[in-house]
Amino acid sequence: MEHLGAHLAFRSRWQKTDEDLCRHSMSLVLHKAIRNDFFASYLYLLEKYPLVKLFAMTSEVIDGEMQFYARAQNFYKDLPATEEGMMGDFSDLSNTDIESSRDFLRQFVGGPGKAGTDFALDCGSGIGRVSKHVLLHTISNIELVDMTESFLEEAQNYLEDEADRVETLYCYCLQDFIPTPRKYDVIWLQWVSGHLTDRDLLIFLLRCKNALKENGVIIIKDNVGKEGCRLDPVDSCVIRDMNILRNIIDKSGMAILAEERQKGFPELCVPIWMIAIQ
Ligand SMILES: C[S@@+](CC[C@H](N)C(=O)[O-])C[C@H]1O[C@@H](n2cnc3c(N)ncnc32)[C@H](O)[C@@H]1O
Repeated sequence: MEHLGAHLAFRSRWQKTDEDLCRHSMSLVLHKAIRNDFFASYLYLLEKYPLVKLFAMTSEVIDGEMQFYARAQNFYKDLPATEEGMMGDFSDLSNTDIESSRDFLRQFVGGPGKAGTDFALDCGSGIGRVSKHVLLHTISNIELVDMTESFLEEAQNYLEDEADRVETLYCYCLQDFIPTPRKYDVIWLQWVSGHLTDRDLLIFLLRCKNALKENGVIIIKDNVGKEGCRLDPVDSCVIRDMNILRNIIDKSGMAILAEERQKGFPELCVPIWMIAIQ
């Protein structure tokens, strides 16, 4: 009715308006109204949820979301299901990585007011390197989620005797995965957050938040760049700077408990950080 009103208001200005012109004036008014509404809601969202801005960060560098995810799937499907495959150029440093992760995790679990030690979820688990050497040292039962089927198949051999403590292996992309609400004491994401767009990472963190038990903690361990967000075209992941990561975490409504830089990796490589959030 509003559009009809606008149409009539315009019509009164034209003497001798023919049917065609009437229809055109109507669609012009409609077009303008829709355009104005669209920009008004876009600006509103931009102000209220900087998510709109965040999404633009990855979308600027990934060259299309579908391609971004498809390229990563292609990369991992040909990778050997071994520790070397999981660590890329840094397979010699797996022990250094594991030691630091264990120390970092210990600060947040197993004590009054800290996370419990019953259940952990290893996200982007690969063959279960983090599960075997870090999580299962402290946590009784675990679950693994990864998009690459061959890695999860290998996990059952790789985890050896500890395989009995794995409740479920989920073959899912994290952008589609919904962890069970209020199930986990610890949720670990190592070298996988960069495989999600800003928007999908935020959505996934919100789901993880919902999946935590009381005092539960999420640990993100990943490469953190100096400035902005750039694409590594080899494995199709983005390397974000700390401010972008903090911003996404902040939008999820969680707080950062601690941040620690991984020591013992070559100075030349992109810094690796552990971030505990709750
Ligand atoms: C560099 S490996 C790290 C594996 C393990 N977190 C570790 O530190 O040993 C990255 C893993 O993330 C998985 N991955 C990449 N993108 C994913 C996505 N969108 N959803 C689920 N898994 C993904 C890959 O299949 C691969 O197993």
